[in-house]
Amino acid sequence: MIEVQDLRKEFRVMRHREGALGAVRNLFSREYRLVRAVDGIDFSIVRGELVGYLGPNGAGKSTTIKMLTGILVPTSGEVVVNGRVPWRERRAHVSRIGVVFGQRNALWWDLPVVESFDLLRHIYRIPADRYRSNRAQFEEILGLGEFLHTPVRSLSLGQMMRANLAAAFLHDPDIVFLDEPTIGLDVVAKERIRCFIRRVNQERGVTVILTTHDLSDVERLCRRVMMIDHGRLIYDGQLQELLARFGGERELVVDLAEPGDQVIVEGARVVSQEGARVTLAFYPAEASASDLIARLAARYRLADLSVREPQIEATVRRIYEEGLLDQARSAEDTARA
Ligand SMILES: Nc1ncnc2c1ncn2[C@@H]1O[C@H](COP(=O)(O)OP(=O)(O)OP(=O)(O)O)[C@@H](O)[C@H]1O
Ligand SMILES: [Mg+2]
Repeated sequence: MIEVQDLRKEFRVMRHREGALGAVRNLFSREYRLVRAVDGIDFSIVRGELVGYLGPNGAGKSTTIKMLTGILVPTSGEVVVNGRVPWRERRAHVSRIGVVFGQRNALWWDLPVVESFDLLRHIYRIPADRYRSNRAQFEEILGLGEFLHTPVRSLSLGQMMRANLAAAFLHDPDIVFLDEPTIGLDVVAKERIRCFIRRVNQERGVTVILTTHDLSDVERLCRRVMMIDHGRLIYDGQLQELLARFGGERELVVDLAEPGDQVIVEGARVVSQEGARVTLAFYPAEASASDLIARLAARYRLADLSVREPQIEATVRRIYEEGLLDQARSAEDTARA
């Protein structure tokens, strides 16, 4: 559905010089600085996938999305979406995709929401019955009823984003690009939007690429995540694996049937032991929870146990801050050499 090979986008930005004299010099010298917003990325996405696209500010997420949607022409590299090169066959491409940029409105500012929808029906030549059933379903899931007849300019941000989201799916696109669709929204609006995204992906098989800084979005919706930093893809794989590899310690909480001796178990350290309750911490790379449970059960009688998952928020923050993936990669390279 989406094939990307060695994709690059460079921007030439004028070198910043202080003061009026600097500005005048700029005018004549035309000194530019090259920003490599997307710096050679490869990936492919199959039909029906819902992929989270993550990365810190300025990493190159929106630039990637803009190339995939045909808004920007790459500096080099290949992109095929749905059998087309987006920027070369812009019109045909746009008729089969949907796009939402968070906090940006794509509907007619002065028209009531419902009239924007009607215009889209004509523009995309949506068959009447399809239009009716899509609209009815989206209205229900996104709760659009209360503001369908309100001009877009009078909507709250959450209402505007919900209307934009519905609009992006009205023409039954094969792929939808969502660039931070939940940014700035309250929890209720976020939840509505997540629910909607999950349903259109599962029930209609729409392929979705979701950019977000809200990791709850990712946790709730995506099995696969791609992570970009400084224009390069630093991770592409299952969210669960990312957590297992970089999630740091996990905790195993055990209630002993007979509180007694100090608990010791190979592969984990005891964080606390109070009465019958023992909290152990372990690295998933070193021991699996089931190994530890087996070892404990061989030595102690257990009344109850539970495993605490690593927090995605903390994990991703660590990856950005400490460049853990770079470290892992150079360790792998060293091991291979
Ligand atoms: N039109 C442009 N001209 C010059 N530089 C640009 C342009 N668009 C983006 N950039 C630069 O390219 C880099 C990547 O920007 P991009 O908007 O893709 O990041 P992002 O991952 O979407 O970040 P955010 O999370 O803040 O939205 C940044 O350094 C940005 O300043
Ligand atoms: Mg962005």
